[in-house]
Amino acid sequence: MNFYVIFPLLLAQVYSHGYLKEPISRTSLHLRPEFDAPPPYYWDNSAIWCGNVNQDLALSGCGRCGDVLGETHFQQGGEYDKGIIVANYTAGSIIEVTANFQAAHYGSFQVELCPQEEETDFCFQLLNIVDGSEQIRIDNRICVPHDNSQNVDVIAHVLLPAGVRCNRCTLRWTYRTSYPGWEGYDICFNPHPAQVFRNCADIGIY
Ligand SMILES: *[C@@H]1O[C@H](CO)[C@@H](O)[C@H](O)[C@H]1NC(C)=O
Repeated sequence: MNFYVIFPLLLAQVYSHGYLKEPISRTSLHLRPEFDAPPPYYWDNSAIWCGNVNQDLALSGCGRCGDVLGETHFQQGGEYDKGIIVANYTAGSIIEVTANFQAAHYGSFQVELCPQEEETDFCFQLLNIVDGSEQIRIDNRICVPHDNSQNVDVIAHVLLPAGVRCNRCTLRWTYRTSYPGWEGYDICFNPHPAQVFRNCADIGIY
C-alpha cells in the first residue's frame, strides 16, 4: 500500500466540496431560514459539480448552474429555483462574494453575471475581481488555498457593471479545482480536465 499516492486522492475525492455562501446559492437556501424557502432542498448542496464529470476549459460538459449536462434542476425555472432574491446591490459597486469550502485544495473560482431577467446558457459575463480580495488573484480568478480545516470562507471583491440594473439577475460562481491534479495540487489554474463546481444565485441590482 503506497500512502503517498492513495491518501491525497481520497482527500480530493471526498473533501473538495464547496458552495456559494454569499449571495447564497439557489441550492443552499435551506441554510438561510430567513428566506423561508420551501422544499425540495438538494441533499448535498456543496457538491453541485456538473455530475462530477471533469471539465475542459469551456466547461462544455457542465450544465448552466452546475447540473449534469442536459438536466435543468438548478437553473432558472428548475425545481430548486424558488424565485427568492437573496441580495440587492447597487449598480457599479464592489460587492463581497463569499465561497465556503470544506477542506479546499487549490484551483480557483470566477464570478459571472447574467445581466438580464431571463437566464440563458449564453448570457453570462465574467466580472472583474478587484483589489481588497484576501486571496491571490490572477486574471479575475481567486486562487483557493489548500486548507484541510473545515468550513473555510474565501471572499472575492467583485465589481458590478455600472450600467446593469435588474429586479432579478443571476450571479454565477464557478470553482475549477486542481483535481485530478495532473500537475500536482498546488496550482491556481488547472488547464487540464478538472473537477468543477458551479452555483447560481438570484440577486437584484438597483
Ligand atoms: C430585494 O429587493 C426585492 C424587491 O424590492 C425584494 O423583494 C427582496 O426581498 C429584496 N431581497 C433582500 C434580501 O433584501
